Amino acid sequence: NVTAALAAIAAASSLEELKDVRTAHAGDKSPLALANREIGALPPSAKAEAGKRVGQARGRVGAALKTRQGELEAERDERILTEEAVDVTTATALRRPVGGRHPVELMQQLMVDLMVGMGWEVAEGPEVEAEWFVFDALNFDEDHPARQMQDTFYLDPADGGLVMRTHTSPVQARSMLDRGVPLYIVAPGKAYRTDELDATHLPVFHQMEGLAVDKGITMAHLKGTLDHLATQLFGEGITTRLRPNYFPFTEPSAEMDLRCFVCRGEDAACRTCGGTGWIEWGGCGMVNENVLRACGVDPAEYSGFAFGMGVERALMFRTGASDMREMIEGDVRFDAQFGLEV
Ligand code: PHE
Repeated sequence: NVTAALAAIAAASSLEELKDVRTAHAGDKSPLALANREIGALPPSAKAEAGKRVGQARGRVGAALKTRQGELEAERDERILTEEAVDVTTATALRRPVGGRHPVELMQQLMVDLMVGMGWEVAEGPEVEAEWFVFDALNFDEDHPARQMQDTFYLDPADGGLVMRTHTSPVQARSMLDRGVPLYIVAPGKAYRTDELDATHLPVFHQMEGLAVDKGITMAHLKGTLDHLATQLFGEGITTRLRPNYFPFTEPSAEMDLRCFVCRGEDAACRTCGGTGWIEWGGCGMVNENVLRACGVDPAEYSGFAFGMGVERALMFRTGASDMREMIEGDVRFDAQFGLEV
């Protein structure tokens, strides 16, 4: 009966249910199919009428099935669209952290940038350096203790007087010879010493060398420049001091110390500064006349100052890192801590 078929079609609430309804009401064994087959057995006078009625019934059921099929498919598509929707604005992708520049490298760059901001130029020299530049040009005596094996990494003597530079000062000599004077250069880079590795010493470390040669340069220029650098790097409240020292290549010579960032000079048992209240930052002084002469500069006309500041030391100061060894261990948890900006 067509009414029952149409009701069942309307009641089908899923595509699976509709499939069963289709089998029951329009399949091979459905009453309509049976009726269709029986037409053939009817007397000719009844055939036309019966054929028309069964045909109409099959048409209505078929159309109803098609309509319902369409409705249910649309519902299913709608459901899939909502259920399987992905909110890409909150989706997390698999991300690998990108690499970053090492804090020592960043600090070195920052120090150089501050000097470039004052009009200084950047100079370079090799890490494997001729002994002449590392020592002789810098007024070291033939038997100066720093030449001895305990400080300096010597290359095979067959290589003819090459060493790993123990400081960046050879770039002073190279720059005067290459560029002439007046001259304002900084030379950042690695230096090598046979030091025992500990919290404040690395056998490979970084310095920023500075050299200013001009007419009328005095120690006041030196102090003003380094104080400015320290203030820019460590903040307005930083206290510095110049402590007399000796270097063969400067006269007079000094060490620039920074007020201890841990105890500020108030703890005689402070382990960071050894209770002195001060931490060495680097050496400096007025360029020794012998060095000027060795580099073709006339000391009667020109004078200069030079300095060599420790980059790792500056990083300790800037960040409060108390053990330099962390700077070379390659632990990204340390390395990622410092986004250095002025
Ligand atoms: N070269 C010295 C050192 O390595 C530092 C220094 C540089 C001192 C320039 C004076 C002038 O300790």
